Amino acid sequence: MPSAPQLPALTLPRFILPMKPAAFLREHWQKKPLFMPGAAHGLDQPDANTLAGLALEESVEARIITGAGNGPWSVLQSPLADDVFETLGEENWTLLVQSVDHFLTETSLLLDDFAFLPNWRVEDIMISYAAKGGSVGPHFDRYDVFLIQAAGRRRWQIGDVCDESTPRQPTDELKLLADMPVREEFVAGPGDVLYLPPGVAHHGVAEDSDCITWSVGFRAPDYQMLMAEIAGECLAESDSQLFTDPDRDVTSDPAVLADADRQQLIRGALDLLQPDAIERAVYRWLSTPRLDGLEFAVDDHHIRERDDKVALVRHGSVRLLMQGKLAWLNGDSHTLTEQQRPLVQLLASKRRYQESELDAVMTPTARELLHEWIEQGYFAPL
Ligand code: SIN
Ligand code: CO
Repeated sequence: MPSAPQLPALTLPRFILPMKPAAFLREHWQKKPLFMPGAAHGLDQPDANTLAGLALEESVEARIITGAGNGPWSVLQSPLADDVFETLGEENWTLLVQSVDHFLTETSLLLDDFAFLPNWRVEDIMISYAAKGGSVGPHFDRYDVFLIQAAGRRRWQIGDVCDESTPRQPTDELKLLADMPVREEFVAGPGDVLYLPPGVAHHGVAEDSDCITWSVGFRAPDYQMLMAEIAGECLAESDSQLFTDPDRDVTSDPAVLADADRQQLIRGALDLLQPDAIERAVYRWLSTPRLDGLEFAVDDHHIRERDDKVALVRHGSVRLLMQGKLAWLNGDSHTLTEQQRPLVQLLASKRRYQESELDAVMTPTARELLHEWIEQGYFAPL
């Protein structure tokens, strides 16, 4: 009697860096692309239907890019019409869904495998679904990205390092490169991973229909935006104070701003930059998720089916960052007691927890805090 076909064991998404993390950071991180065949597995969900359904949700950011070769290219931005997929044809289009990890907690669990980098450096997981020939065109990104092939095959062409002065095609929304000399080429199949540092030109074309690619994107804070956050935090903490000059001497030239006045004005403004408020701004900003996706329930059945040891998970849209006695959770600080700190340190260090790990750090006040965070939807028991 023929034996039943062996079904692959279901696993949660995994990425295993095929080298020592220190060597990856030294040789590749922010420097040089790396193709890692077979470095990932367990990427069977979300499938095409789940992704299409998610793309139609009101709170989800999604795009459909149509085009191939020399174009023409077009982009449809969310909100997408319910019947959009019926209008697309068989080839040459890609659906891209942003921040899937924020909505589907099971997808976010992959991020634990990037713990050789700090959590605050992670932005999100974008997932694309392409029909045969689908592509987003030749371009470069300003951020580090791990492109993980989940299903189907994608041909990746890699070009040179680009910057804002590199010539582009006149496609405003897509910012495609006018010319991309190909320096390397890989065909990625399920489980193959391509790391690209910021600025490296790339062009990935779906070789088959049902080509699904996960992009683990990294967050590189923009100093202009950070300065805006700092200014906001400092201003929120200070009262309006006006320039005063009760000891003024008679002005010798009313047309000029005298040195002493200029210095007093600049000092008055810079004094608002208080070190405590600056630190708060940094932590608040880095612990704020890209999107608030808390209304999406955790699929506990899906997770338990793939790993029955998981007793608790952090919701995919939650960021948790430690600052000594404080924990920053989604932009708000919580002062921790000594008894709560070991639990929160565990909760911040990864995204899924076993019963024995939780038991080892549990105290009555830690349990109260966890209970509160479960009630608020930040953590989910399985
Ligand atoms: C894709 O998933 O189709 C494109 C990802 C990228 O090139 O950044
Ligand atoms: Co890209």
